Amino acid sequence: MSAAATLQALHTEEGRRNPYPHYAALHAVGPVAPLTGHYAAVVHGYDAVSRVLRDPAFRVLDAEQLARQLPTWHEHPSLTVLMNSMMFINGDQHARLRRLITREFTARRVAALAETVTRQVDHLLDRLAEQDGEVDFIKEFAFPLPSNVIGELLGVPAEDRPWFQPHVSAIGAVLDAGGADKFAVADKAATELSAYFTDLVRQRRQDPRDDLVTVLSAAGEDDDPLTHEELLSALVLVFNAGFETTTHLLGNGLEVLLRHPDAAQRLREQPELAPGYVEEFLRLEAPAQLTTRWTAVDAEVDGVPVPAGSSVLVLLGAANRDPARFADPDTFQPERADNAHLTFSAGLHFCPGALLTVTEAQIAFPRLLARFPRLALSGEPAYRAQLTLRGHTHLPVILA
Ligand code: HEM
Repeated sequence: MSAAATLQALHTEEGRRNPYPHYAALHAVGPVAPLTGHYAAVVHGYDAVSRVLRDPAFRVLDAEQLARQLPTWHEHPSLTVLMNSMMFINGDQHARLRRLITREFTARRVAALAETVTRQVDHLLDRLAEQDGEVDFIKEFAFPLPSNVIGELLGVPAEDRPWFQPHVSAIGAVLDAGGADKFAVADKAATELSAYFTDLVRQRRQDPRDDLVTVLSAAGEDDDPLTHEELLSALVLVFNAGFETTTHLLGNGLEVLLRHPDAAQRLREQPELAPGYVEEFLRLEAPAQLTTRWTAVDAEVDGVPVPAGSSVLVLLGAANRDPARFADPDTFQPERADNAHLTFSAGLHFCPGALLTVTEAQIAFPRLLARFPRLALSGEPAYRAQLTLRGHTHLPVILA
């Protein structure tokens, strides 16, 4: 089968549910394959993906490239919010935003959050223990945990979070597949969120707290201030990037565990093994399966030409299962040595939230297993129909 036909199969409902046979078919044709149409090539071999992500000539989708695909993007507040954030900016401006924002996002702040994470995990486990019969792990645990942790990190009051979550998700949804109806919902959400954060920033300037809204409100105040738009975009981005991705790490990881009861039992008995388990969940079932890059100059990847102005599809999830890099790539081996997956990307845009999300998962899984010794799947899980963000809509489990 040609690479183009494999990609078509990947973008069917079945392909999104189980992309891995399609990744194997791509590996069989080499690390990179030329395409015609929207993308000039698909990059899926581990070394090739790593090289493209680390090469600054390959840029993240930004306003310049988006204008080629959607000249009217400025009319959409949802896209304006996204395009003002570091995830969609290249070059010096990216470096400036990343510096101003990530210097507040330190290991110290994450370490301080570990206590909050443990408290939130135990609170959710207490609530689960009160339920009888089948529960949806996504709704009851994987969704509220990261939302509450990011809420605490930013300083979004607990009572506002239920309102806040669907607004942020609606903005993110335009990236999956924009459509007239999605834009209507996302644009309304972006306008309302901007008003919300404007108000929260004003409150924190008057009454500072130890949270990200407070420190970012003051970021670069002396010489190089974040503009109000940049500040709003940064806050929306951190919530957006840090919330549902972590939900799917928890859901995907739990499904792997419940399908490997012996490995689950080992973790239950030896919670200190959690770091290796979490890295292997991230490699095997990446919550973000793909990204894209584009080039402003004529370039090539492994001999495949990428003309100026064109984009490449970068399959992180396929790189993680490249048999040339990982022995038996489709099997779950939590003791795997040298497990340098590309789930958090690489290079200039490497995920600054990696430490936080890994901390959440390392705390959550051993406590969950210890609390429910007979935890098991109780039905067939249901999956999101997306690869950009891959995970469950429902994960039915039985607790005892
Ligand atoms: C399992 C959880 C997560 C996964 C799989 C993940 C994945 C990623 C990936 C793949 C990128 C780079 C995309 C690219 O190179 O095109 C990224 C960037 C980013 N992530 Fe994460 N992420 C996760 C959790 C988080 C958390 C918890 C936060 C914040 C609290 C966060 C904040 C960000 C930000 C701000 C960026 C943009 C960085 C830049 O463009 O320089 N992420 N993430």
